[in-house]
Amino acid sequence: MSIALIILAAGKGTRMESDLPKVLHRIAHAPMLWHAMRAGQVLEPGRTIVVAGHEADMVAASAQAYDPEAQIVLQSEQNGTAHAVAQAAPALASFSGDAIVLYGDTPFIRQETLEEMARARAHHDIVVLGFEAADPARYGRLVTEGDALLRIVEYKDASEDERAITLCNSGLMAADATVLMDLVAQVGNDNAAGEYYLTDIIALARARGLSAGVVHCAEAETMGVNSRSELARAEVSFQQTTRARLIDDGVSLQAPDTVWLAWDTVIGRDAEIEPNVVFGPGVTIESDARIRAFSHLEGCHVSRGAIVGPFARLRPGAELAEDSHVGNFVEIKNAYLGEGVKANHLTYIGDADIGDRSNIGAGTVTCNYDGVFKHRTIIGKDAFIGSDTMLVAPVTIGDGAMTGSGSVITSDVPAGALGIGRARQETKAGFATRLRDILRAKKKEQNKG
Ligand code: UD1
Ligand code: MG
Repeated sequence: MSIALIILAAGKGTRMESDLPKVLHRIAHAPMLWHAMRAGQVLEPGRTIVVAGHEADMVAASAQAYDPEAQIVLQSEQNGTAHAVAQAAPALASFSGDAIVLYGDTPFIRQETLEEMARARAHHDIVVLGFEAADPARYGRLVTEGDALLRIVEYKDASEDERAITLCNSGLMAADATVLMDLVAQVGNDNAAGEYYLTDIIALARARGLSAGVVHCAEAETMGVNSRSELARAEVSFQQTTRARLIDDGVSLQAPDTVWLAWDTVIGRDAEIEPNVVFGPGVTIESDARIRAFSHLEGCHVSRGAIVGPFARLRPGAELAEDSHVGNFVEIKNAYLGEGVKANHLTYIGDADIGDRSNIGAGTVTCNYDGVFKHRTIIGKDAFIGSDTMLVAPVTIGDGAMTGSGSVITSDVPAGALGIGRARQETKAGFATRLRDILRAKKKEQNKG
């Protein structure tokens, strides 16, 4: 059966104190909206509809950057969650199947939970995701009888008895799309907030003879983000959960609390991550690779057996083949390092291809930018680049070639050749001793005066 995701993302998020709409604030380098959209992917949705309102253009651009096929519907005034869902009606006109309502500011929903909601639809016309709240505060309360959900009461409208209920509404719901659209169209706004409450559809559904049930999840999954301090806590929570998952999957983290992961970091089994490593977005580390302390990686791929760091920086487009080594104070950008390549000290490699087993000496720089254009450096297999070589791109160094230390290489070096580009040395016998005597004498004169 086809599934449509309806993601509510129209709210302003006043308490964020920000010009950025709330759902675009980032956790682990991805907007919260993307976290919700990614969770929904497990249901293989036939349609994804994002309800945008506040700064709708920005929200739309972000949603479509994640999923170019996402449909954006506009809710110009935020009159409540039922009103928000109702805006999706035109986008669902020709759709048959289930709709699942998600919140764009609730990034921690687990895929397993959404699958459970989809499965629970076999037993109930409407499935609501609920949780036992440690502090139920102002959440909507789920009024149940056996495994039937009778209605949801918002805190503001609840009686003392109802406020004593600890089973709360996460806001997520699943139902047949046509039924859902019929129900939200019926919702009124005669309540304490004067809003159209999505939660009212439960009582409306039961009045029509439809059934409603609850799927339970952990409170942490429903954690919403309303302020900067909640965002900071959400980041910590994401990091802790993701570190724990990696460890369970067989990755070694020597000091888990000091490793910062991105929402999409992929690390293979038996890889070893030393303390204080930071992952930006788009990193994949294969099995058995070792990322040493204080390294910073983003948009790169590290193959099996490779060693990175300590103190290395891999920037977007860095591609390290098996068993390559990148050492301290080495920066790599948009460059391929073949199998067994070594660049161990104080080097910048940008816009380059380096063949298998080549050695890049300390202090080597690919001079890739002329102020306007970027140029490539090509280095063949088994080449030896002497320390402190400046490779002025575009330039090609052939297989097995060498460059002399301190060279500025401006033209190609063919396979097997040695390229040297530096001033010839002059040696003046006894000059150092004489110079030192002159200087010392001068100092003595000065001290007298
Ligand atoms: C809602 C639920 C409440 C539940 C709580 C869980 C209703 C009436 N209440 O309350 O039972 O316990 O979530 O967090 O549904 N939004 C729009 N357009 C609107 C209003 C809201 O897109 O007109 C979006 C918001 O951006 C947000 C989500 O819907 O992502 C929830 O809205 P919010 O105002 O936070 O609802 P709560 O009052 O927290
Ligand atoms: Mg809320």
